[in-house]
Amino acid sequence: KKHEAWSGRFDEPVSELVQRYTASVDFDRRLWRHDIQGSLAHAEMLNHVGILSADDLAAIRAGMEKIVHEIESGQFEWQLALEDVHLNIEARLTALAGDAGKRLHTGRSRNDQVATDIRLWLRDEIDRIVGLLGKLQLALVDVAEKNTDTILPGFTHLQVAQPVVFGHHLLAYVEMFARDAERMLDVRKRVNRLPLGAAALAGTSFPIDRERVARTLGFDAVARNSLDAVSDRDFAIEFSAAASLVMVHISRLSEELIIWMSPRVGFIDLADRFCTGSSIMPQKKNPDVPELARGKTGRVVGHLMGLVTLMKGQPLAYNKDNQEDKEPLFDIADTLVDTLTIFADMAAGIRVKPEAMRAAALQGYATATDLADYLVKRGLPFRDAHEAVARAVKACVERGCDLSDLSVEELRAFSALVGDDAKAVLTLEGSVAARDHVGGTAPNQVRAQVAAARARLGG
Ligand code: ARG
Repeated sequence: KKHEAWSGRFDEPVSELVQRYTASVDFDRRLWRHDIQGSLAHAEMLNHVGILSADDLAAIRAGMEKIVHEIESGQFEWQLALEDVHLNIEARLTALAGDAGKRLHTGRSRNDQVATDIRLWLRDEIDRIVGLLGKLQLALVDVAEKNTDTILPGFTHLQVAQPVVFGHHLLAYVEMFARDAERMLDVRKRVNRLPLGAAALAGTSFPIDRERVARTLGFDAVARNSLDAVSDRDFAIEFSAAASLVMVHISRLSEELIIWMSPRVGFIDLADRFCTGSSIMPQKKNPDVPELARGKTGRVVGHLMGLVTLMKGQPLAYNKDNQEDKEPLFDIADTLVDTLTIFADMAAGIRVKPEAMRAAALQGYATATDLADYLVKRGLPFRDAHEAVARAVKACVERGCDLSDLSVEELRAFSALVGDDAKAVLTLEGSVAARDHVGGTAPNQVRAQVAAARARLGG
């Protein structure tokens, strides 16, 4: 079957396989709402500048309304032979509105049309993702607020380092997701420029009003160069990069949830609805959701690499390569939306086990730094204090006890500066309370950060 939209200069039809190979309607039909939105704005402008009659505009509007209804109710017949979402909708419009439908494409090309559609669609997705990042942050803030006095060991190298409060640990993720939202909104600025009017690549000979279309569609500005407008997908790559960072943060959180939930650690429990059992081992409760999120991170990062590579060899202006931008973009947006939705719900339901956290913090000499700091405050240079405490730790390791198990007299064997008040700094509470400055883990600082995050998030 010959292609109605462009087969005029062809002698033979494309093979069935080539048709399938080149068609995108199976996936780009998802852009239909934004395609119609763009077409209506274009038609309104054509009428405003006197290119399209009022009757034609009315016929296009009525036809599009019918098409919206047909697509929403599942009656619309998507045809592979019509290649993509644009030609499918245009063909149906022409069937409904006659010549008016054929006039819609005046001063426009599918090249600027698709670039417009994808930006309109991406803008909506970004807004959704930013909203979900806010919800996830609020869920974490809620749990943080209840745990400003819950002490667990903080780790470096996955070795016990210093005690921190659990709320502080969760607020670290709030910071990451806040930056992610900021990044998304920054990408949005560059997504929100109007390509329409660039036509195929050089602009159009019709007296179009691009600013008017930009206003109608809510774009901040028109793309200033027609070649650039139809050909670059850097905005999509930026979005994928920002999305990759969201997933990297989700993945790190997932890794921690998995470790914390391991029975060997037992710091938290996740609600049953985010876990699955084993068909062979009756005792299992596996953290499938965080594991899958960690896995899906690879997929999003992979799409980023795919899109960068898609772009790198393309000469100006539009090339069909760009049709390959859609599946990765759709998959990235879907993965983020689903993941963030689930994580907001899952984070809200984290069941904290403070006794297990505390028991772990009491092992591993988490307050050794506090003892060194104590000696420094009594006049010992830090390097010497470090050395003295390291020897005390070594002795404890040999005896199989903790620093706090040593008496003041025993501690004094490592430094004459150890006073009767030394034991107080070895407590977990003393250690966290001492880190009392902006960004530190002291409970009152964490409470202040909880309040500040809440104010920022408007929750
Ligand atoms: N389906 C195409 C895409 O996604 C639309 C633009 C096609 N333009 C063209 N000249 N064949 O990029």
